[in-house]
Amino acid sequence: MHRSSAAAWLLVLVICSRQSTTESKNILIVDSIVGGSHFQLLSLLGNELVKRGHNVTFRIAECVWHIRDRANLDAAINCQPFRCNAPEELVAKMLDFFSRKTLSGEMSSIVWFAKLWLGLLDDPEAKELMNTMQDFNEVLLGDGDFHASLIAANYDLAICDLMLPACSVIAHDVLDIPYVNVANGGPLGTRYSRWIDTPSPLSYVPEYLTHYTDSMTFPQRIKNSLAHAFSVFIYDFSSTSGLEAVREKLGLRRGTSMMEIWRKSSLFIFNWDFVLEYPRPTQPNVIMAGGVSVRPPQPLSPDFEEFVQGSGDRGVLVFSVSTLTNIMDDAMADMIAAALARLPLRVVWKFVGDRRPATLGNNTLLASWLPQGDLLGHNKTKLFIFHGGINGAYESIYHGVPVVGIPLFADQIDNLLRLRSLGMAEYVEGGIREVTSDTLYQLIMKVASNPSYKQHAVEASGKFKAQPQQPLKQAVFWIDHVLHYGADHLRSKVGELSWIQYHMLDVAGVLAAFSILLIWSLRYCFSALCCRAKVA
Ligand SMILES: *[C@@H]1O[C@H](CO)[C@@H](O)[C@H](O)[C@H]1NC(C)=O
Ligand SMILES: *[C@@H]1O[C@H](CO)[C@@H](O)[C@H](O)[C@H]1NC(C)=O
Ligand SMILES: *[C@@H]1O[C@H](CO)[C@@H](O)[C@H](O)[C@H]1NC(C)=O
Repeated sequence: MHRSSAAAWLLVLVICSRQSTTESKNILIVDSIVGGSHFQLLSLLGNELVKRGHNVTFRIAECVWHIRDRANLDAAINCQPFRCNAPEELVAKMLDFFSRKTLSGEMSSIVWFAKLWLGLLDDPEAKELMNTMQDFNEVLLGDGDFHASLIAANYDLAICDLMLPACSVIAHDVLDIPYVNVANGGPLGTRYSRWIDTPSPLSYVPEYLTHYTDSMTFPQRIKNSLAHAFSVFIYDFSSTSGLEAVREKLGLRRGTSMMEIWRKSSLFIFNWDFVLEYPRPTQPNVIMAGGVSVRPPQPLSPDFEEFVQGSGDRGVLVFSVSTLTNIMDDAMADMIAAALARLPLRVVWKFVGDRRPATLGNNTLLASWLPQGDLLGHNKTKLFIFHGGINGAYESIYHGVPVVGIPLFADQIDNLLRLRSLGMAEYVEGGIREVTSDTLYQLIMKVASNPSYKQHAVEASGKFKAQPQQPLKQAVFWIDHVLHYGADHLRSKVGELSWIQYHMLDVAGVLAAFSILLIWSLRYCFSALCCRAKVA
């Protein structure tokens, strides 16, 4: 074959493998400044969109760029770092602040969050943090030059992290293009569902951070309703007020509220699936794409394989409480190592500290990086200990591995609670500060020695895998769908109704007035008849 025709064939192959099923569009993805798992989700979507032949631009804040793994992004993606006004030290200080609040357990409290948003925490660090976030909103929303450069790029669609409302604001106010909101987690509680206009009956939808399940007792339903009122106040009014002030200042607001902007999203893509989330109402433009990061296991590298095989019939425990590794002190590391050393299993521990725990057992392997999914998919793996992050939750379900959870903050307890509802997990109830080496050992042994946890994990795995389409493919399918057909047919009219119309108070009022009139006239006729009878 001629070299030129070989090259032509290669070109055809490359074009075909790009699966160019749709016409190429210009897509903007904006990374949030929060955790790396959000970046992971957006990069998976970006890579898949590139495979489908789209031109993808990924905007990312410079101050978090150094802690993102660039290798996760397809080479064909245009990366555009943007300036953070927050210097790296300040970002590091913020992360440190949250780590300490995590350890103290405050980050699991809805009251603490409320005080943080309302500026009621008697803590100069918290105040500084809120000011930084306010400044950050200004930077993200940018100035006229920035807007002009975005407009010139001619984007067809923006993909935003739901945690970064500034992205939706730019897509709506500045670019006037459709946008998709992505959340690395589920419509926990009622917060997101208010933004999506989905009913969330408080009788069986537990509010965020209440740590209730979908079957609540009477006192729990009372507390659930109170937590709901709190949630409306914090998320609908307080948390967006800073952003609204900046929109006002930049002259962007023009009559639409943040709530309306969210409601106009073409799609909401949630890293969530009903195998984990309790059944509840959603809307047609909500795509449940839970577990986008899971994939079949690959063979382990020789050193991991040797260690795992060396466990014989006893098997292996995978310990990966990633957030904890950054904030753990020596005493805590020793406490955990002592519990692990007593186990009749081999342990692979994701550990990044400088000092080996003094109580480390000879059954425990420390590694600064773990091929987590491949380890969980190995048939010698018996148990997974993690903090309850959403990606780990789906990996444990996908590979059918029982779980012991050490929750640290926010939605982690909610995720673990749902894994426990599936019968495949237990978790440390009082948080990391409450746990002792002995209680941790007892909890691990409870899950390791009772086969029902494994049975339920395997059941959940079967349900989760039985899907018509991979979650990532499904998410990208719907993005292509709205690029082609728009999203008007997927959005209910609820956003156009007033509160009175939505709750049918106008109709109830008319019906009540009519009923009263009817009763009154009947009574009148009746008494008139009686009188006539008496007279006769
Ligand atoms: C792809 O996007 C980049 C960045 O917005 C832009 O410079 C480039 O011209 C686009 N390419 C095509 C083929 O549209
Ligand atoms: C590991 O430690 C246990 C007890 O701490 C001991 O019985 C065993 O022999 C040790 N194994 C090896 C290979 O050193
Ligand atoms: C575990 O996997 C290995 C290959 O990785 C296979 O040879 C072995 O039969 C499997 N064991 C069980 C119990 O499935």
